[in-house]
Amino acid sequence: MMNYTDDTVFSINEGVNLLSNAVSPVVCTGAGMSADSGVRTFRGEDGFWKEYRAEDLATPQALHADPELVWEWYKERLLHYDTIEPHAGFYALQRLQENRGSLPVITQNVDGLHQKAGLSDVIELHGSLATASCLSKCGASAKELTEKLVKEIPPYCSCGAVLRPDVVLFNEPLPQNEIERAFTLAEDCDLMLVIGTSMLVHPAAQIPVVALKGGAVVIEINPEKTMLSDYPGVTFIEGRAAEVLPALIEKTLSQ
Ligand code: OAD
Repeated sequence: MMNYTDDTVFSINEGVNLLSNAVSPVVCTGAGMSADSGVRTFRGEDGFWKEYRAEDLATPQALHADPELVWEWYKERLLHYDTIEPHAGFYALQRLQENRGSLPVITQNVDGLHQKAGLSDVIELHGSLATASCLSKCGASAKELTEKLVKEIPPYCSCGAVLRPDVVLFNEPLPQNEIERAFTLAEDCDLMLVIGTSMLVHPAAQIPVVALKGGAVVIEINPEKTMLSDYPGVTFIEGRAAEVLPALIEKTLSQ
């Protein structure tokens, strides 16, 4: 095990007991899950929203008003995402999913790293940066977002309208099937593993709370405490996803 404090070792061991006894666990991840792969989070010291204003870049209004500016930002992220690799925590989750047969993963991330690590049943609450579709909803099918497509900024649909990345922007509803499935899983699970979310963006932040209210236990992994951390029923493990997840999962699988 890495150089952990006694508190962290204690809570990892508690997490191992909970995870070993769980019958219907579910994983719920936020931007912090990708941080150790080199993807910037949104909040915190090095977060995107320290440097940019969300309303300038991540709203439908911004996309209509200045598509070049918005696409420059998404292009930079997209090209970066092409080269990043999942860290050891993703592969630990993949081994846990394989071992258990079923382990749904609810994520707010749009970077595709879970899938790149071989995880399946990934529920993308905020969409995905893998594809783009027509801003004027002409009905053309979604286009795979490639380096070639974003060479010309902004990229255009064959109908002449600007394309938009298939991510959920602020002020937009979440995809219906995904949000319904996430809340059903939260109600039905007996353990939720919550990794790397600030618990500040709704409705995603309600998902672990619904799990707790339904009687599930929660294991939270984050270097910093959130509003969730001190709820009854939450085991908070202070640490980074790339370090804590392999320790927690390897120990659980070797029991
Ligand atoms: P945030 O950027 O709000 O929070 C990231 C969380 O990850 C914080 O609690 C950090 O402490 C934690 N963290 C940082 N490094 C970590 C590490 N190595 N291991 C584990 N945790 C770590 O991200 P989200 O809560 O996912 O929405 O934010 C949700 C949404 O806000 C995003 O999906 C995006 C953004 O605005 C939209 O674009 C609609």
